[in-house]
Amino acid sequence: MSGAEAREIPERERVDGADHDGIGEEDNPVPRWWWITFGITVAWAVLYVPWYLFSGWSQEVQYAEEVERVSVAVAAVKADMPTTNPYRGDAAAIAEGSETWATICVACHKPDGSGLVGPSLVDPYWRYGDDDVSLFETVAKGRPEGMPPWEAQLGSEKIWKVLAYMETLPKSDEPGMGAPGFGTDG
Ligand code: HEC
Repeated sequence: MSGAEAREIPERERVDGADHDGIGEEDNPVPRWWWITFGITVAWAVLYVPWYLFSGWSQEVQYAEEVERVSVAVAAVKADMPTTNPYRGDAAAIAEGSETWATICVACHKPDGSGLVGPSLVDPYWRYGDDDVSLFETVAKGRPEGMPPWEAQLGSEKIWKVLAYMETLPKSDEPGMGAPGFGTDG
C-alpha cells in the first residue's frame, strides 16, 4: 500500500484481509479525553434522569408556581382596591382633584367636561360605564380610542380624587361630545 510509510500512526494488521480500494483502516485506541468525557456524560445521565423524573421539578410546576404567585398578588391588590370612590364629597380631596383635572384632563375633555378630543364627561352617555370601578379603570388603564392610561403618573389616590372632582361638574341632560346622536339632532 503506497503512502503507508508516511503515516505517523502505523496501521494495524487488517482483520478481514480484504482490499478496500486501497483505503487503509486504522483502528487506533479512543483517546483518554474522549473516554473521560463519555464517562462524565454517563454519570450525569445517571444522576440527572432520576432527579428530573422524581424531584418534582418541571416547567409545568414552575409555571403553576408563577401563576399562583401572581394570582395571590392580584387578589391582594383587588382586595385593597376600593369599589366606591373613597373621596366622594371630600372637599379637600376634590380641591386636589381639581388641580389634576386642570393640568391633565382639560386638554381633551375641556374645563367644563363637555368634551373636545375626548368625549363629554357631563352627559348621560357613558361608553365604559359610570360606576366608580369602571371610571377608575378608564382613567387608570386608559381606553382604546385615545384615552391614555394615568395610573403610572397619578397613582390610585389622585385618580379617585380627580374623579371626585369630575362628579362635581354641572351635568347636562343632552347627549354630549362623543355620544351617539350628538350633533345629529342638536
Ligand atoms: C389625550 C387626550 C385625553 C386626556 C389628557 C384625557 N382623556 Fe379621557 N378620554 C379621551 C378619549 C379620546 C376618550 C374616549 C376613549 C374611547 O372611547 O375609547 C376618553 C374617555 C374618558 C372617559 C370615559 C368616557 C365614557 O364615555 O366612558 C373618562 C371617564 C375620562 N376619559 C376621564 C378622563 C380624566 C379624569 C382625565 C384626566 C386624568 C382624562 N380623561 C384625560 C382623551 C383624553
